[in-house]
Amino acid sequence: MLLVNARLATMAAATPEDAARGERYGLIEDGAIAIADGAIAWVGKRQDVPEQWTRGEVTDLGGRLVTPGLIDCHTHLVHGGNRATEFEMRLEGASYEAIARAGGGIVSTVSATRTASDAELLESALRRADALFAEGVTTLEIKSGYGLDPETELRMLRAARRIAAQRQADVRTSYLGAHAVPPEYAGQADIYIDEICIPTLRAAHAEGLADAVDGFCEGIAFNPQQIARVFDCAKSLGLPVKLHAEQLSNLGGAKLAAEYGALSADHLEYLDEDGVIAMAASGTVAVLLPGAFYTLRETQLPPLDLLRKHSVPVAIATDANPGSSPITSLLLTLNMACTLFRMTPEEALAGVTRHAARALGLADRGTLEAGKRADLAVFDVEHPAELAYRIGFNPLHARYYAGRKS
Ligand code: NIG
Ligand code: FE
Repeated sequence: MLLVNARLATMAAATPEDAARGERYGLIEDGAIAIADGAIAWVGKRQDVPEQWTRGEVTDLGGRLVTPGLIDCHTHLVHGGNRATEFEMRLEGASYEAIARAGGGIVSTVSATRTASDAELLESALRRADALFAEGVTTLEIKSGYGLDPETELRMLRAARRIAAQRQADVRTSYLGAHAVPPEYAGQADIYIDEICIPTLRAAHAEGLADAVDGFCEGIAFNPQQIARVFDCAKSLGLPVKLHAEQLSNLGGAKLAAEYGALSADHLEYLDEDGVIAMAASGTVAVLLPGAFYTLRETQLPPLDLLRKHSVPVAIATDANPGSSPITSLLLTLNMACTLFRMTPEEALAGVTRHAARALGLADRGTLEAGKRADLAVFDVEHPAELAYRIGFNPLHARYYAGRKS
């Protein structure tokens, strides 16, 4: 199959020559993409298409923009209930941390998730996932972490897997048993880690339910020593790790994650230069979450200039969750990354394509290059900056998942 008459934002890493010429987005004007067996077989200028690719089905994209299929690399899409009343409480002056310490916050979603049936968990998550797919998302990461008991953690991960089975999309799962201390273990975080978190990680791994292991390193969650114990278990199982770090304070979580060769450290508003240097050395991706920054009216900005200075790849994601980031639009997240964090539209788009793939440890997607999966998003826009510029408008024309239009 051949797609022609498109402007391609390949998002391939710029060579020093490209950068010197000021070329952005790996842009190819009047481009073409040949697809075979679910992968990109050839990509380049239409005039250069090798003859062999012109003999099959040819689709004219009418000059539209094609990007790699978008990747939302950090979500908590599977959960019961919602926290609109907590939103009201914050508007009346309560802080996110104070609500959490008073037994609300994550723990209130834990009760709602435990009481939700499998069907309810799947159905509500599918609605949120469909909103993302409708914007061109083809790969989605989903975390557990609202069960905090063996049964519910595994039910969450199974629901996440079922989304992939029911839709044209890839879902990557992260086990987040170290998200919060459940009420039945209040004040006994270490015992929770030993009795529940680690055994459930082993069970999730045995059932093939976890692609990675995540944690929340924070005063209202777990300290670095506790996270390290979970990461040691992940390592022994051969699973990659990632970490919610430096969201509300600096506990050195990013550095800890880097020591374990983490795929990513996420949030990072309170990250310092030592942490940035450690991430650069370990190749850990910085995942910034503007939806949570916005919702919590955070004022401490993530250290974007330091991340740029040390060439740490920056991804962005929705963090879709019922508490700190009730957002299910990756396009709006692009806009927020630019407006709130002052990322360029090109950095933001790399953050939901090339760098997001890396944050999930996926080398087979995230750019339009020969050999990559044919996951594509086709937009009714002229210039890629339009994707980040508009607010609340969805210009998706079509998406291709493994070469199939959907
Ligand atoms: O990524 N930071 C920790 N976990 C989630 C919030 C979860 C919640 O409030 O329910 C986050 O922001
Ligand atoms: Fe999160």
